[in-house]
Amino acid sequence: MKNIVVLISGRGSNMEAIVRAQIPGARIAAVISNRPDAAGLEFARSHGIATGVLNHRDFSDRAAFDTRLLALIDSHAPDLVVLAGFMRVLTQGFVEHYAGRLLNIHPSLLPSFPGLHTHARALEAGVGLHGATVHFVTADLDCGPIVIQAAVPVLPHDDENALAERVLAQEHRIYPQAVRWFVEGRIRLDGQRAVVEGGTYMPSASCVTPALEY
Ligand code: GRF
Repeated sequence: MKNIVVLISGRGSNMEAIVRAQIPGARIAAVISNRPDAAGLEFARSHGIATGVLNHRDFSDRAAFDTRLLALIDSHAPDLVVLAGFMRVLTQGFVEHYAGRLLNIHPSLLPSFPGLHTHARALEAGVGLHGATVHFVTADLDCGPIVIQAAVPVLPHDDENALAERVLAQEHRIYPQAVRWFVEGRIRLDGQRAVVEGGTYMPSASCVTPALEY
């Protein structure tokens, strides 16, 4: 069994998708939030998953928060730590501690639109394709090796919400897929790239195609 700790800050729909996927060989050891009112905590509790809250406002600086967060996570002996809408920038020491076992989902086709407000920026830029990316976390924000991406079209009358909803549906598909590959031991890091054994180099057209069903 691989222990997975999921970090959330809010709604937790990606965490929910991973839990509902019931990935063989995976055990969701804990769901931890930096916000006491994160809606996703209730879903986790109601599914018998251990929860933890570590309010970043109780800490004077980022390093102190990350030190306590790391200890809390490690008390669950994680094989994999999954950031699922966890809205905190992590310190280098934290990221290095979990090197190769820390995944994040970002709501854009990286390397386009790192950072916040990705859907508004995609609309503003007039791109025809937008999407989501699951990647390993490194010290550079939204820059780590890409595991899987899904693309969606940007439609003529889209607003931010419509586009976000279309992307989110794909997030719920690709995040459990990436976790499944990790648990199966199929992801290998080759320098800056993540390679899925028995698959192809993932940031290619092959992983975009399945999402173009719209
Ligand atoms: C998702 O769009 C994720 O890509 C981004 O924040 C959102 C979190 O949604 N990082 P949820 O909490 O998983 O519902």
